[in-house]
Amino acid sequence: MQNQNSESLPTERLAGKNIVLGVCGSIAVYKAAELASLLVRGGANVRTVMTESAAKLMSPRIFQTLTRNDVSVCMWKEVESWKPEHISLADFADALLVAPATANTIANFANGLAGDTLACVYLATKAPVLVAPAMNSNMYSHPAVQANIDTLRKRGVRFVQPACGRLACGAEGVGRLADPAEIARQTAELFGVG
Ligand SMILES: Cc1cc2nc3c(=O)[nH]c(=O)nc-3n(C[C@H](O)[C@H](O)[C@H](O)COP(=O)(O)O)c2cc1C
Repeated sequence: MQNQNSESLPTERLAGKNIVLGVCGSIAVYKAAELASLLVRGGANVRTVMTESAAKLMSPRIFQTLTRNDVSVCMWKEVESWKPEHISLADFADALLVAPATANTIANFANGLAGDTLACVYLATKAPVLVAPAMNSNMYSHPAVQANIDTLRKRGVRFVQPACGRLACGAEGVGRLADPAEIARQTAELFGVG
């Protein structure tokens, strides 16, 4: 029996799609596991890229098991392919989804920095990019973060609006990662019908 989350997901749009899931070092990282699971149950082939901060907060093994694919964390890990992993991932992606996205990774993207695998995949891919920010409300409303978001929007990056409410840090306001089912639904929307 399906739960409510997977029932409302337009699985016909996700089926067979290759999704690179970028996971950053936010306290909301645990919600990315539910998101990965929803995408896989929708029929998507998910490959996860974790930043080193994310991998400090949560084990890559969780994503490896849920997605049945290896997880990329370090750019310098020995791989069998001649092709750098970030280029393989960029070519593989029908969509790049970053959830949760930190202020730091959003700044990397906006400024064209390429210091980790996720930032390199962002720069190298031609696939649509959907970013779901999660951070303290003062961080989220900071002009530097908002300017980076504006820059990325102007370059065609789509954003999932963070939710309002009580944050893990104790603050109240906007910045909580959107519900994983809503992020999965907006990911499916990237692919249109058919
Ligand atoms: C426990 C903990 C929780 C954090 N949560 C967030 C968060 O929700 N959002 C955010 O932007 N940064 C958060 N940070 C700070 C980031 O981890 C830090 O800026 C890091 O450099 C982000 O790296 P990344 O973008 O490569 O993942 C948190 C740090 C810690 C230690």
